[in-house]
Amino acid sequence: MRLTTETKAEHAENIATEMRVGVYPGSFDPLTNGHLDIIRRASTLFDKLIVAVLVNDSKKNPLFTMEERVNLIQKCTKNMPNVEVGSFDGLLVDFVKANGSHVIVKGLRAVSDYEYELQMAALNRHIDSGIDTIFLMADVQNSFLSSSVVKELAWHGGSIKGLVPKEIEKDIVRCVRALKNKDSQKSEG
Ligand code: PNS
Repeated sequence: MRLTTETKAEHAENIATEMRVGVYPGSFDPLTNGHLDIIRRASTLFDKLIVAVLVNDSKKNPLFTMEERVNLIQKCTKNMPNVEVGSFDGLLVDFVKANGSHVIVKGLRAVSDYEYELQMAALNRHIDSGIDTIFLMADVQNSFLSSSVVKELAWHGGSIKGLVPKEIEKDIVRCVRALKNKDSQKSEG
């Protein structure tokens, strides 16, 4: 497009006023250091980054409630002024559009993530061709890290130090212990 002086001014104004919003979706059950690293890095690419917590996943049975997962993320991102934490139910593309965004951010750890993420990115573009997914490569030191690993370690009494942000380590252990106690009481009774 050839820009005239008038359209150039309009274009510049749009750029100045338009907020670039990115959405980083996930289950975050619970947040790990790998997630936090992606949040930190993605927050530098957008004016506003929304961490979007999936309320219910038909395939997974989350250990933490949606409120707990949101609270844990809020605790760790309180010093990141352009990061907001939200939750969504239903289609991700609808949440993305409703929040004035067209960019989904995802982290990639290894080749094993690729196939699923490729399918999701293509599916989301099929639903809405205006939505793009960008991928940030996980830091090598987080390549083995997942929420499942953290939950399993905590469940069996292993240390999760260094795998989750310091400020939520105790919250996670406490929550897993409480659930474990409840579970053993149920199987005894
Ligand atoms: O933490 P995860 O498991 O990688 O997160 C997966 C998530 C939340 C990104 C994905 O399950 C999702 O987008 N769910 C919302 C439903 C949806 O829009 N699915 C794609 C089209 S069927």
